[in-house]
Amino acid sequence: MLKGIFRTKNLNDILSALGDETHQLKRSLGAVSITLLGIGAIIGAGIFATVGTAAAGDAARPGAGPSLMLSFAITAVVCAFTALCYAEMAAMVPISGSAYTYSYATLGELVAWIIGWDLILEYAIGNVAVAISWANYFRSFMHDALGVDIPQWLSTDFRTARKIPGLIDSAPHVFGVPIVFNLLAFGIVALITIVLVWGIKESAEFNAVMVGVKIIVLTFFIGFLLYMVTPAKMATNWHPFQPTGWGGTLAGAAVVFFAYIGFDAVSTVAEETKNPARDLPIGIIASLVICTIFYVVVAAVFTGVMPYPVLVNKLATEQAEPLTMALRYIAPDARWATGLVDFGSVVAHTAVLLVFQLGQPRIFFSMARDGLLPPVFAKVHPKFKTPHVTTILTGVIVGLFAAVMSIDEMVDLTNIGTLFAFVLVCIGITILRYKDPGRHRPFKVPLGAWFLPILGALSCLFLMYYLPPTSWWRFVAWLMIGLSIYLSYGYARSELGGKSGRSRITPSWLSLMGLGSLLIAIGILTVPHTSTPSELYAKMMGGMGEGKRTIIAVGSIGIGLACMLIGFVTGLLKGEPVKSN
Ligand code: ALA
Repeated sequence: MLKGIFRTKNLNDILSALGDETHQLKRSLGAVSITLLGIGAIIGAGIFATVGTAAAGDAARPGAGPSLMLSFAITAVVCAFTALCYAEMAAMVPISGSAYTYSYATLGELVAWIIGWDLILEYAIGNVAVAISWANYFRSFMHDALGVDIPQWLSTDFRTARKIPGLIDSAPHVFGVPIVFNLLAFGIVALITIVLVWGIKESAEFNAVMVGVKIIVLTFFIGFLLYMVTPAKMATNWHPFQPTGWGGTLAGAAVVFFAYIGFDAVSTVAEETKNPARDLPIGIIASLVICTIFYVVVAAVFTGVMPYPVLVNKLATEQAEPLTMALRYIAPDARWATGLVDFGSVVAHTAVLLVFQLGQPRIFFSMARDGLLPPVFAKVHPKFKTPHVTTILTGVIVGLFAAVMSIDEMVDLTNIGTLFAFVLVCIGITILRYKDPGRHRPFKVPLGAWFLPILGALSCLFLMYYLPPTSWWRFVAWLMIGLSIYLSYGYARSELGGKSGRSRITPSWLSLMGLGSLLIAIGILTVPHTSTPSELYAKMMGGMGEGKRTIIAVGSIGIGLACMLIGFVTGLLKGEPVKSN
């Protein structure tokens, strides 16, 4: 079995299948278009929403304060290492959904499944966060520009509502239960899903207009704040630079990583690039550099205008649209300015939503084509020619989560999942340099097979370390759910496995391992996430409330581990692990 789960797809097969399926796309994109595509996918909720939490901190992490600008610079360096790896990969395997396909060719089926499963966190959960932030800015836009007040109980989640004084009490109640959910976020996801099922093509012109709006609105924000606040006042607000020390700066770096996600999406257009060897690395790196400059300057003026204690206080009791909050703070009467930034922000968010909501179904689609997900996922609509099943499924999942989850939790989960995918991509570069040294690489990560890719992997792990414990627990549970699906479904249905004579029916010992993995995931999700092992033990001994929950969780993990072990040993005794390669 071990050989089976690490079996790799042949790169030549992938590349020749690509030729058949797509009849060679037109190579029309140059370095400038690639750069614009990158900026289009990158600038969104990250800079408009996460800066607030990153600067002020929250219950789970310290705030970066003015050192937020340094946080952005640190994360940019981490992303740059990975960006080089993506450029090498994209130029070598120019195919959509490349991180998944590429890992299938380098690290084998199980890792490919993990990356594909993990990319759901980047694309779908990432979009949950973007939709929530969209709703915040849309509500703000309706208020500032049109004077219409959308009730807050229809535009936020329950947990966020709890920290806003009076909101829960003022919400309508049914049988004593307050009704609070984010209808706005759900609505925008539903709308985008309909548009995508109907069919929309990413067009370079449309993207260029969106990028123009994003750049204009951020430039306006920077210019307006610089006009309103003297350099001396800013310098005062920048002290102390690191109010909570390096811990805050690095926790901030881990949060604002969200703002950079998207540069990897550029690698999917490698096939349509005139000169991938030159244009791809230039495009990926240039979009990163341009966004970094904007991000660092926005962070500088944002923290220069809002004194740290004010920021902490406001974010603890308000639903945050940080950039308009800064404008309101410094110029309460300039509603036109806030309205303008709200509008640009809504446009920027919509562009990111479209790119990611377009990307997720295509990843599901590739995985279904490889047999790792049911064939229904690879269905194409007869009239619209879009992957409608996966598009609607993605829409429903993203919409429902966006209606009830809080943005910070979703950002953390997206970040941890994406960083992990980046780690695997970086490692894949090194492995393939040794496994397949003769392959033509139009672009190569400089300084050898080891130095930068390993630095990339390590720096991504470093950022992951600074994400809160809850996101780690959820991430591990997510991987266990994925493993459960792979063991009980994907392993036996895999096209690659089928070709190599693997049985098409899941053996019972593998189903038992799949069940075990699911039980472990349920246990991990149930256990109280903020407690240390000794606190958990004390809670279990206490028995009531959280103690009961802990006992159920630990029991579920224990039974899960036992199922995994029994399944594994049974498979070993039957000799099936070897036969069913
Ligand atoms: N980088 C994207 C954003 O900030 C995900 O919205």
